[in-house]
Amino acid sequence: MSADIDQTRPPTSAVTKAVVPAAGLGTRFLPATKATPKEMLPIVDKPAIQYVVEEAVESGLHDVLMITGRSKRSIEDHFDRAYELEVALKAKGDTERLRSVRESSDLAQVHYVRQGEPRGLGHAVLCAEAHVGDNPFAVLLGDDLIETADLLRRMIEVRREHGGSVVALMEVEPEQVSLYGCAAVEPTEEDDVVTVTDLVEKPSREEAPSRWAVIGRYVCDPAVFEVLHRTPPGRGGEIQLTDALLELARTKPEEGGGVRGVLLQGQRYDTGNKADYIRTVVDFACRRPDLAEELLPWLREFVDRHDRTDRS
Ligand code: G1P
Repeated sequence: MSADIDQTRPPTSAVTKAVVPAAGLGTRFLPATKATPKEMLPIVDKPAIQYVVEEAVESGLHDVLMITGRSKRSIEDHFDRAYELEVALKAKGDTERLRSVRESSDLAQVHYVRQGEPRGLGHAVLCAEAHVGDNPFAVLLGDDLIETADLLRRMIEVRREHGGSVVALMEVEPEQVSLYGCAAVEPTEEDDVVTVTDLVEKPSREEAPSRWAVIGRYVCDPAVFEVLHRTPPGRGGEIQLTDALLELARTKPEEGGGVRGVLLQGQRYDTGNKADYIRTVVDFACRRPDLAEELLPWLREFVDRHDRTDRS
């Protein structure tokens, strides 16, 4: 047992709930997102948000709370039974498609709460307060797809061992830090775990305390709610989760404070902007045995053709 385990608060409960903010307007993907939530854009043949829920479930979190907003009904439909579709597929004997349709509704216990007004990620997390109560919980951002559930599982383990909150960190190029929350860190005895000493939301290259970027997986101590209630709007005029976590990084462990970082090992895909989204789709498709055989030769030929056109 670690010496800095929280001794004064009641025994900390296990992480069992996942919170998935999905209330954003998706303006970067207009007009595709005019009537379709960006979370429902397909990565090959599954909506992006299903990968996120699958990761939560693989990490042992079967209770998923989506923070939604207007025009997000198709997310609820996706995780619900599609009775007529199931009957039609059954009648056709199409068991493979029937299985794929049922997969998303059988996956997890999915709950919904509406954010109402877009006041930032911190505010979205605050909307989970009644559902989560006085328990630690995970936050998964839908724009980030992570190759395996190992990262989140490790974060949950770090929370179990040390208490406090846990962020996921990835080293980025200096010109990229302004796209992320950025952390100053100190090493711990474990190679893949650091102590977070400072956090700045989307700093300029000059302001950045390091090249360690916060990516979209968090395990939060419930103390974050009390902090978020009084966190003023920060970067972009929005209530930032990063700002609340900075306060927790400076709070005593017995008050729910302490923030650790788990360093990402493996691949992370960003689907938050068009070029990255297309890269993700191509990468996921090329990993699929049923598609790779057809797609890879075409991609090679396409690039050759492109190069030849560029040169002429
Ligand atoms: C959010 C967080 C930011 C974090 C990022 C990870 O920003 O505010 O700290 O680094 O997610 O993807 P967003 O990309 O939603 O603007």
